[in-house]
Amino acid sequence: MPIISKFVQLKGLEYNFIRFALRRRQYSSAAPANAQLREILSDQLNGIRDAGTFKSERVITSSQSTQITVEGSNEKILNFCANNYLGLANNPDVVNYSHNVLEKYGAGLSSVRFICGTQDIHKNLEKKLAQFHGREDTILYASCFDANAGLFEAILSGEDAVFSDELNHASIIDGIRLCRAQKYRYKHRDMNDLKNLLETSKARMKLIVTDGVFSMDGNIAPLKEIVALAKEYNALTFIDECHATGFFGKTGRGTEEYYNITGSVDIINSTLGKALGGAAGGYTTGPKELITFLRQKSRPYLFSNSLPPAVVATGTKVIDMLLTSNELTEKVQTNTQRFRSAMTKAGFTISGENHPICPVMLGDARLASAFADEMLKRGIYVIGFSYPVVPKGKARIRVQISASHSTADIDHAIAAFVDVGKSLKVIH
Ligand SMILES: Cc1ncc(COP(=O)(O)O)c(C=O)c1O
Repeated sequence: MPIISKFVQLKGLEYNFIRFALRRRQYSSAAPANAQLREILSDQLNGIRDAGTFKSERVITSSQSTQITVEGSNEKILNFCANNYLGLANNPDVVNYSHNVLEKYGAGLSSVRFICGTQDIHKNLEKKLAQFHGREDTILYASCFDANAGLFEAILSGEDAVFSDELNHASIIDGIRLCRAQKYRYKHRDMNDLKNLLETSKARMKLIVTDGVFSMDGNIAPLKEIVALAKEYNALTFIDECHATGFFGKTGRGTEEYYNITGSVDIINSTLGKALGGAAGGYTTGPKELITFLRQKSRPYLFSNSLPPAVVATGTKVIDMLLTSNELTEKVQTNTQRFRSAMTKAGFTISGENHPICPVMLGDARLASAFADEMLKRGIYVIGFSYPVVPKGKARIRVQISASHSTADIDHAIAAFVDVGKSLKVIH
């Protein structure tokens, strides 16, 4: 090893030792509590920075769209990293409708739903969402995180059991933590593992829980097999459709529709904060008794403010659009196919299946970060994901396709990927 790099390595060890010693130091209990808090948190923040996992936020100075501007530049950049699958986040019809509702119904309710926070527009949106999913009823929450946090604890007791895919979203993991049910985690999409767990369970109610689409890999739950196992072992099924509702499946009805088994899942949770206008809000849709029960028992619903009227209006307008036309759903699917097939042909590995989440697999974390920087220089905004967000050695750039990308936008992104890919020797 050259002497200079040995020196740098030793210096690095020394530096890490000092950091470790600092982190282990005793904090003075005599210091004012506020100063102590700052000191403890600053130390932990330094640890996050040292680990290279500190998340900084780029500030957007335009509306959310395929073309955005960011702080420090007037240049428009092409956005390929929002969950704006249908491109409706700044759609003029959606914004106008929401504006009118804001004028008529005011800024907010200053109340939870059951005291004086339910307007006709809330009931109307719940009805439309149930209609869209072909379910009996729907309950709105401030977010899908809340819907996931409120469901399991409300309906499951110690006599019941929950079986959850190991890669389910954090909000499902947290929601399950809050409940008293017996908890089982099955290996990602592994139906043998799920079967074995179901077989041994003597629980009163069994609930199988999965993301419909997994957002880091753009891959899909094996829903047909899950539904078959649920039948065999008399279990209930739950799917989180945040990355499916509105755009996945032929008419955007989600993972069930993708597999041609519409109506076979018992409970669906989803969000208004991605394809459905991108504002905020989440919901549970399913059997009438379940929804009525959640209104009585679900804590994030009972103890949190009503969705603001303008937000309710955004979701309502989008659902109205989707109930009358498939145009945007078809467009995002065509765009997805164009991107996936050209990129694969160019020599890239794209993870997932037929989904607008298109992870361009690169492996090395530094490469993913350098790749994203080079893409930005070419006017394309994408983000590199690496450990601990994804497993070590599986760093990637997660591209998200939208219906509002033009064919020229998609081709521009592909050309930039090929250019950067060649210069960084990812492809030949
Ligand atoms: C799979 C999944 N579930 C739940 C959520 C939370 O949704 P919301 O933003 O409505 O809280 C997200 C958001 O990232 C998600 O990806």
